[in-house]
Amino acid sequence: MRNRKPLMAANWKMNLSLDEARDLLNGIKSATIDFNRVDVLVAPPFTTLRLAHELLAGTGILIAGQNMHWESGGAFTGEISPLMLKEAGCGHVILGHSERRTLFFETSETVNQKVDAAIEAGLIPIVCIGETLKQREDKKTFDIIKTQLDESLETSCKNGNLPQSVIIAYEPVWAIGTGKTATPEMAQEVHRFIRRWLIENFGPNTGETIRILYGGSVKPDNIKELISQPDIDGALIGGASLKTDSFVSIIRFYDS
Ligand code: 13P
Repeated sequence: MRNRKPLMAANWKMNLSLDEARDLLNGIKSATIDFNRVDVLVAPPFTTLRLAHELLAGTGILIAGQNMHWESGGAFTGEISPLMLKEAGCGHVILGHSERRTLFFETSETVNQKVDAAIEAGLIPIVCIGETLKQREDKKTFDIIKTQLDESLETSCKNGNLPQSVIIAYEPVWAIGTGKTATPEMAQEVHRFIRRWLIENFGPNTGETIRILYGGSVKPDNIKELISQPDIDGALIGGASLKTDSFVSIIRFYDS
């Protein structure tokens, strides 16, 4: 029996005005959530972090940045530092999202630097990996996942040490925002592969403790099946996290 508490994490991406964000946060706040059964996290845009921090104070709902620079400060126009995220109320940070990798040319090498900086600053990284449709069709999924893990967590692998609080998110690129979800079995196959990789590199305690989230067209009607897989420990949700009803019913997967 798995003893990892499921985590439902909302990645708002570049969406919602302050007023819309306030409505959504108040909606989530007023929902009845059994925090013994699920952890909840929201990752709003930077300019909404402070509002989220104020509105969610005392609720137990976690807050994440969507990206971060690895340096602590300096001449890096447009970037944000680990400490700035912490000051804005974040305990977590999403790193290496496929949109960062494809649209903004982030590499696993820079993701590794960011992971190190996050851990150093006391932020919990949510490290995203996933294959494209072409890579899946070419039967390269496991090679790609292994390479992304090896490179994005290179320093931790060298040290043989990864904090057990670190979170991995498997997001097949072809399933993001497309309405195409990986079947629960397809997702589980990759999650099991990631679990084995974690155990090989960091030992069974860490490997069995780290949560692996699934992301890509997660909705109220597919969350139950996904979360029933032994190595799927929650979800990273885009579109369906922008509406109170759909996000709350994903959070309350245990109801149905
Ligand atoms: P969608 O849920 O909109 O497919 O987005 C998934 C995602 O990229 C979460 O990080």
